[in-house]
Amino acid sequence: MGQLDNRIAFVTGAATGLGRGIALLYAGEGADVAIIDRNRPGGLQVAEDIKKLGRRSVAIEADVGDEATVIAAMAEGAQKLGDPDILVNNAGIITVAAMEEMDTKTWDDMLRINLKSVFLCTRAVLPAMRTRGYGRIINISSQLAHKGGYGMTHYAAAKAGVIGLTKALAHEVTKDGIAVNAICPGPLDTDMKLPPEWAANKQNDLMIGRQGRVEEIAPTALLLATEAAAFYVGTTFNPNGGDVMI
Ligand SMILES: NC(=O)c1ccc[n+]([C@@H]2O[C@H](COP(=O)([O-])OP(=O)(O)OC[C@H]3O[C@@H](n4cnc5c(N)ncnc54)[C@H](O)[C@@H]3O)[C@@H](O)[C@H]2O)c1
Repeated sequence: MGQLDNRIAFVTGAATGLGRGIALLYAGEGADVAIIDRNRPGGLQVAEDIKKLGRRSVAIEADVGDEATVIAAMAEGAQKLGDPDILVNNAGIITVAAMEEMDTKTWDDMLRINLKSVFLCTRAVLPAMRTRGYGRIINISSQLAHKGGYGMTHYAAAKAGVIGLTKALAHEVTKDGIAVNAICPGPLDTDMKLPPEWAANKQNDLMIGRQGRVEEIAPTALLLATEAAAFYVGTTFNPNGGDVMI
């Protein structure tokens, strides 16, 4: 018996990094998983890995910040696997730019991919979750939403927005059996690379003295995807190596 037996999960940004780790963990716990990512080769590989675990999977190429693409991707996932019980809004980017040097496109791209995407993907799956009276939505924010960082006004604003969205949405959907929560990981050892000097400074802030591993965050996303998560309402989990103690 897996913790997610016969559940259907859609995970954005699951071609690599944390999303990949969450998708594989969910599949290992019995879920069928749609991989929604703009990285097609990576998505196809993860879908193959999931099929080897005996679960159904589909890789859907999509830019999660684009409305029409998201609507089409979610419809394709539902048609191929079924309506999702679980949505993980994980896809994201990072760039570093001090505010006075930041061009507007850099700001807009960040807000579009890291925040608007959460709105678009969630809005697309909510009607089916409401109809069934069950859903789990897990939004990946960041510890930088709490403490900020040099050159991170756009990233911190987007990720703090994810927390606000999570809390406000909980007011709208909890009564329909949908649990929406957020995770704010600390710095992770994934493809999402910061400039080396920034990363070195960050490491000194971390009480644990190293970056986090995907395997140290994915179990939180598993807990929030289970039936037992019903009593978590609009909360934020903070696996961050001691960067922010809240
Ligand atoms: N790496 C860290 O230190 C860290 C810390 C805190 C939070 N996070 C958050 O965790 C999440 C996962 O990051 P990661 O570390 O695994 O990075 P990653 O770069 O390995 O993975 C991000 C994934 O998102 C996909 N993606 C990016 N833009 C997309 C778009 N427009 N449409 C569809 N897919 C898109 C990428 O192709 C990639 O597969 C992100 O939301 C990130 O902000 C990361």
